[in-house]
Amino acid sequence: MKSLPLRLGVNIDHVATIRNARGGDTPDPLRAAQLAIEAGADGITAHLREDRRHIADEDIAKLKAMITRPLNLEMAATDEMLAVALQTRPHACCLVPERRAEKTTEHGLDVRGLGNSLTGFVEKLKDAGIRVSLFVDPDAAQIEAAAHARADIVEIHTGTYCDMAIAGDLAGRDAEIERIIAAARNASESGLEVHAGHGLTFDTVAAVAAIPEIAELNIGHFLIGEAIFAGLDAAVRRMRTIMTEARASNDTLSGKQR
Ligand code: PXP
Repeated sequence: MKSLPLRLGVNIDHVATIRNARGGDTPDPLRAAQLAIEAGADGITAHLREDRRHIADEDIAKLKAMITRPLNLEMAATDEMLAVALQTRPHACCLVPERRAEKTTEHGLDVRGLGNSLTGFVEKLKDAGIRVSLFVDPDAAQIEAAAHARADIVEIHTGTYCDMAIAGDLAGRDAEIERIIAAARNASESGLEVHAGHGLTFDTVAAVAAIPEIAELNIGHFLIGEAIFAGLDAAVRRMRTIMTEARASNDTLSGKQR
């Protein structure tokens, strides 16, 4: 399959994590977002958590007002977050499960289990002109449920694939990338736009970027960490280059197979 263009969404949550460690104004997530855009990010993602451990309400308002690329607001499907989304009107909302004790979003949403309550939530966001993405594990039943819930997008959780790659479990890593490939195909055939993210690094991104149905990758923690050593501009540019090259090599390959 000839690929879709591949966008990079940069998640700036952990700029706020560092800021909040001292409670002042620096480093500023808005400045990071603007710099990431200058370096080639196609959009900015920020997760407003119930406990406000990193991004704060004022950050979301500032990002929406100031950035020149689409804002993707990650949030739990709660009444409180619905009110924030309806007031802020980001380009998109990505609905994620949230547990207070977790370090990061560990799993995809149980779209199937949430049933009609989620469908109603999705509808309220869509009625406000906000695109709705559901963060799901690479699982056919969840993707079918996401299409049923009338989401616009599914974002496939790549965390297990990245964990296996880091652990050196090559058989597990390869099995997991096959699950992601199948899920992306399945979602695209169901009419959903396909995104992916979580845990991606320079070493793990190429295999995911090569999947032709994927339109966007959302990457945060690694890029903000890498920025300490190389600068955010260089980190974003390098990630973009690896993504573009992986996508182009897939297109060359599929062209030869035709
Ligand atoms: N996508 C979603 C839905 C997430 O929850 C996160 C983490 O906030 C990411 C992407 C980015 O993950 P990472 O920070 O590991 O790159």
